[in-house]
Amino acid sequence: MKIFLTGGSGYIGRATIGELVRQGHVVEALARSERAEAAVVAAGASAVRGGLTDLDVLNQAAARAEAVIHLAQATGGEPGRESGAIPYIADGGNHWALIHLDDLARLYTAALPAPAGSVYLGVGGVNPTAKEVAEACAHAAGPAGKTVSLSLAEARERISPIADAFALDQQLTPAKAQRELGWTPVHADPLTEFAAE
Ligand SMILES: NC(=O)c1ccc[n+]([C@@H]2O[C@H](COP(=O)([O-])OP(=O)(O)OC[C@H]3O[C@@H](n4cnc5c(N)ncnc54)[C@H](OP(=O)(O)O)[C@@H]3O)[C@@H](O)[C@H]2O)c1
Repeated sequence: MKIFLTGGSGYIGRATIGELVRQGHVVEALARSERAEAAVVAAGASAVRGGLTDLDVLNQAAARAEAVIHLAQATGGEPGRESGAIPYIADGGNHWALIHLDDLARLYTAALPAPAGSVYLGVGGVNPTAKEVAEACAHAAGPAGKTVSLSLAEARERISPIADAFALDQQLTPAKAQRELGWTPVHADPLTEFAAE
């Protein structure tokens, strides 16, 4: 299939291009700079030069494609970088619906034949608490690894506007994607993987 993808130079985009190409698809990827162009080409796509506001570029590339994967999004700050500790919000008892990068890339590929309008959750089915994730990541940092609790107001100040997303309590299942797409997440123990990294 011929696919147009945005965000191909990003974390999820690079892995998704790699998986699409491995499965025999042909990928054109939006790239707004020379650095992004080099990244999408290295991942296996051909580059379409432009940004999210270049509507003519987007329209033409989408019209050439049989499927579009839209991943580009400008991002804000990153939690933890300033404090040196891995933060969670309040008591960290809220759950996160995680998915491993490689499972997500396979899910995008598996969803290509789905009927238009289908909706699937990109989750792996394991929903640890934010505090458990922070502690596993701190463990990976070794003896110096620390966690810190931030109030929601502090988190908004440091990493706004995404702090509210990190404060959500979400427990989600990939059952629909498994049933309808024959896709199965293979990374079932994220806390062990975080703690080992
Ligand atoms: N990673 C996660 O844990 C996570 C969780 C939930 C949802 N998501 C969503 O998944 C998507 C991809 O996430 P990611 O982690 O791969 O993000 P990322 O690594 O920050 O990559 C963002 C991508 O968007 C591109 N981009 C940003 N602004 C652009 C613009 N104005 N024009 C063209 N391209 C632009 C970037 O291009 P440059 O290389 O040129 O900057 C990059 O390719 C995002 O929508 C994000 O909200 C991610």
